[in-house]
Amino acid sequence: MNKKEKYLAKTLYGLENILAGELEKINAQDIKILNRAVSFYGDNEVLYRANLELRTALKILKPIKKFQTKNENVFYRKVSEIDWTKIFKLEQTFAVNTTVNSRIFTHSRYIGLKTKDAIADLFRKKKGKRPNVDPRMPNILIDVHISDSDCTISLDSSGAPLNQRGYRDQTGVAPLNEVLAAGMILLSGWNGKTNFVDPMCGSGTILIEAGMIAKNMAPNINREAFAFMQWLDYDAKLFFDIKNELQNKIIKRPEIKIVGNDISETVLRMARRNLNKVGMARNFIELENNDFRDFTPPPAPGIVITNPPYNIRIELEDSIEFYKEIGDNFKNKYKNYDCWVLSADLEALKHLGLKPEQKIKLINGKLEARFNHYKIY
Ligand SMILES: C[S@@+](CC[C@H](N)C(=O)[O-])C[C@H]1O[C@@H](n2cnc3c(N)ncnc32)[C@H](O)[C@@H]1O
Repeated sequence: MNKKEKYLAKTLYGLENILAGELEKINAQDIKILNRAVSFYGDNEVLYRANLELRTALKILKPIKKFQTKNENVFYRKVSEIDWTKIFKLEQTFAVNTTVNSRIFTHSRYIGLKTKDAIADLFRKKKGKRPNVDPRMPNILIDVHISDSDCTISLDSSGAPLNQRGYRDQTGVAPLNEVLAAGMILLSGWNGKTNFVDPMCGSGTILIEAGMIAKNMAPNINREAFAFMQWLDYDAKLFFDIKNELQNKIIKRPEIKIVGNDISETVLRMARRNLNKVGMARNFIELENNDFRDFTPPPAPGIVITNPPYNIRIELEDSIEFYKEIGDNFKNKYKNYDCWVLSADLEALKHLGLKPEQKIKLINGKLEARFNHYKIY
């Protein structure tokens, strides 16, 4: 077993507890909940599992240096103190991602440039040459996070964000982030054993995430490349052993129905393509093309998780009336269902006409939203 290192899993607002629960299941240690992130310790196995298996993580970062400074020259010097030649090879390309939230440092691009200079200068001093920068497909991705005068330099172990599962190249106008969709399903407590419905499914993100949970399929099992594969200590055998074990745990045909419905034939075509990409043929996840008012769900017990239009990106003539009809529809057609609605139209949501059992604050893109639970008796 290689040594345990500290890592940081980034997530979306409101999903920190769910992510901590997921980390426990993969044997991560010393799990601490932070703001939109969870820190933990683990060996390479935990790191590889985190990238393959976590449904609610956006990235897994490995912090390598923390310091405080208010000065750009000191920042450059601190970054130069890291021995980058022990972290990657001259032949490898690199790129720097910066997030700056500071009154002192206001230009994140400048901080990015300073970081690249420090790394290039160190390589030149020690190896006589500098590695190339490749902003599009770097081998090594370095993450710089500055909050006021607190600077953290990390290696990004994921590369492309983990919500990019590879099944979605086509979306409707307002697709949900895959991590948010998975987080909503895990927040609902659905265990993959009862029928699942999204009556306004768009390009099918919630359905596919539900399908992966029901099939016990790791969300990034089909991804070819993670940034950690370029690290000097990458253990390919360990990675492929874990991947094989996860492949063998996938349930071929869960005995439930997952049904999506949408009024738009265009978005349903996209949903179909996305379903095919992830190998969830039509007989496992069914799609129907109706107004939600005319759609009949499969028998209870079951769960609805849906993300109706908010009258922001998709316009509604009368959003209050639209939401009232969603509530009426739940009462008439979804007896003994648990219904969950995510919406950023907080006013219209109040007119659903049902008393929520739970209201959870989430952020969808930049919009504050509520994820409300209604039990239909
Ligand atoms: C916010 S989008 C859902 C996005 C979806 N969660 C995704 O990730 O792609 C809302 C969806 O509701 C659908 N919709 C609007 N009015 C509808 C109606 N009356 N009946 C059924 N679907 C409707 C729209 O076509 C749109 O796809």
